[in-house]
Amino acid sequence: MTAPRPLIAGNWKMNGLAASLAEAKAVAAGLGATPARVAICPPATLIHRMSEALAGTAVLVGGQDGHAEPDGAFTGDVAAEQLADAGAVLVIVGHSERRAGYRETDALVAAKTRAALRAGLEPIVCVGETLAQRKAGEALGVVTGQVRGSLPAELAGQAFSVAYEPVWAIGTGLTPTTPEIEEVHRAIRATLVALFGDAGRAVPILYGGSVKPANAAEILHAAEVGGALVGGASLKAADFLGIIRAV
Ligand code: PGA
Repeated sequence: MTAPRPLIAGNWKMNGLAASLAEAKAVAAGLGATPARVAICPPATLIHRMSEALAGTAVLVGGQDGHAEPDGAFTGDVAAEQLADAGAVLVIVGHSERRAGYRETDALVAAKTRAALRAGLEPIVCVGETLAQRKAGEALGVVTGQVRGSLPAELAGQAFSVAYEPVWAIGTGLTPTTPEIEEVHRAIRATLVALFGDAGRAVPILYGGSVKPANAAEILHAAEVGGALVGGASLKAADFLGIIRAV
């Protein structure tokens, strides 16, 4: 089975105004020949404008979250269908900031993943342990439990990726050691194969949490690492391009 192309996805979180579209355009302009697939997930307010600004380039646009229902009385929420309608082709689901801040359970993340597929979006499903869970020796159990609970059977045969993002590494400048990343990624791979058979071997497993140009090469070349989900360092084109060039 040929290895899938690495995916480098930027998660802008609640950052970015119209002026920030220039950074996205600079990423597209500076991309050059890369083996990676590259995506930017801006806030929902920018998806349409960014997809127009990046039309004809290799940079994909994604959402950061999508509601499980296709429409209805859900004030302030955005449906997966609406993300797709605005030009998104991917969507992040189950980010720890949603799991912690909005009490999203594995079951809800699975429902949102199903919704992404229904809307024709490629899901990036996030998992990751807290510092307390890691210190208690529970990291592998927590992460593989999240993978089992958050990945619906409907993903069989579909394009998707899993992002391992230790909660304690997000936005902190801290990263696990390479052996720690590989240990978790191998456990995720084994779970993917248990769930999806041989097809589970081709699912990119991204690492996320304080990825920056200086550590990207080591992380991206670690065993079972199939790309990166990048927060802070995706906001500036020069930093994001530095990570992409490390693939
Ligand atoms: P960070 O965020 O790169 O700023 O640590 C990663 C993420 O939350 O996806």
